[in-house]
Amino acid sequence: MGRRVLVTGGAGFIGSHIADTLVRDGHEVAVVDNLSSGKREQVPPEARFFELDITAGVDAALEAFRPDAVFHEAAQISVSASMKQPEFDARVNVLGSIHLLETCRRSGVKKLIYASSAAAYGPLETLPLREAMRPMPLSCYGISKYAVEHYLRAASSQWGLEWAALRYSNVYGPRQDPHGEAGVVAIFSQQILEGKAPTIFGGGELTRDYIFVADVVSANLAALETDLRGHPDPVFNVSTGVPTTTNRIFELVRKGLRSTVEAVRGPDRPGDVRHSLLDSAKFRALTGWSPRTSVEDGLPRTTDFFAERARPR
Ligand SMILES: NC(=O)c1ccc[n+]([C@@H]2O[C@H](COP(=O)([O-])OP(=O)(O)OC[C@H]3O[C@@H](n4cnc5c(N)ncnc54)[C@H](O)[C@@H]3O)[C@@H](O)[C@H]2O)c1
Repeated sequence: MGRRVLVTGGAGFIGSHIADTLVRDGHEVAVVDNLSSGKREQVPPEARFFELDITAGVDAALEAFRPDAVFHEAAQISVSASMKQPEFDARVNVLGSIHLLETCRRSGVKKLIYASSAAAYGPLETLPLREAMRPMPLSCYGISKYAVEHYLRAASSQWGLEWAALRYSNVYGPRQDPHGEAGVVAIFSQQILEGKAPTIFGGGELTRDYIFVADVVSANLAALETDLRGHPDPVFNVSTGVPTTTNRIFELVRKGLRSTVEAVRGPDRPGDVRHSLLDSAKFRALTGWSPRTSVEDGLPRTTDFFAERARPR
């Protein structure tokens, strides 16, 4: 049966794909987004749209729409911005989430699924990262993402909210913002399409756990469909568990765009961990979810999107 579902950040990269899938599956959907990086045209036309900031005044949306469940994707997503402006990061990511939670409590929302991040772990040495490990976030972004997991736990014990925190690894796919600092697939694609040579830092042998956005969407839907009431610790890695080097990503982006451009080689960037890998066994065992898209399949779908968008009309 269709539910009433609200997506914060639903004009952004991941949130808009979640909203599209919810609409397709027959749910009633509303989106809250302040369009700071999101785009109005990415919100599905069938969804109600509220141009609001999560740090104030989301009551209007929740009162008007009365969702049963909320996907909370809206955030300040830049690690370096979080280090330069920790107050702003905490205002959006922590205070914004608390404001949203308070509003959810008042309007009777039963379930909230939160976009957490691998950044919550910080640079732990033992890989793959598992939920039982003690997070030691170093970036202000990692701290703010992690803090909200605790507020969710508090909301659950205080007023019975059913919740999940999904710690995404490195997500890529169509609609990712190529102008940010994260999202190397989008950045490389955009640079190559603009005739620029991408820079690969630190020898290109750093590895990340890349996950295609459709697999992150299906994880969110699996969390919605799974009964998590009474779960002792509903914090889950959402990842592929497959390491891919930056050099390999560059090769695949180049191939997808039929380019022969050579990358510029840059030095190590301070603060970049060499390897990041997450084990998603806990989420798989509970929900039956598994990622279906390898980088070899997901990369061409992503470069096709950027190539199509760059085509003169
Ligand atoms: N992309 C990744 O690799 C990745 C990895 C781990 C976690 N995440 C998390 O996933 C979520 C979605 O990230 P994304 O990559 O789609 O980023 P995004 O920037 O495309 O989406 C975020 C959306 O939130 C909106 N927003 C920002 N501040 C807001 C505010 N104060 N009020 C209302 N709306 C606001 C933006 O306009 C944007 O549409 C974020 O919570 C992010 O921390 C992303």
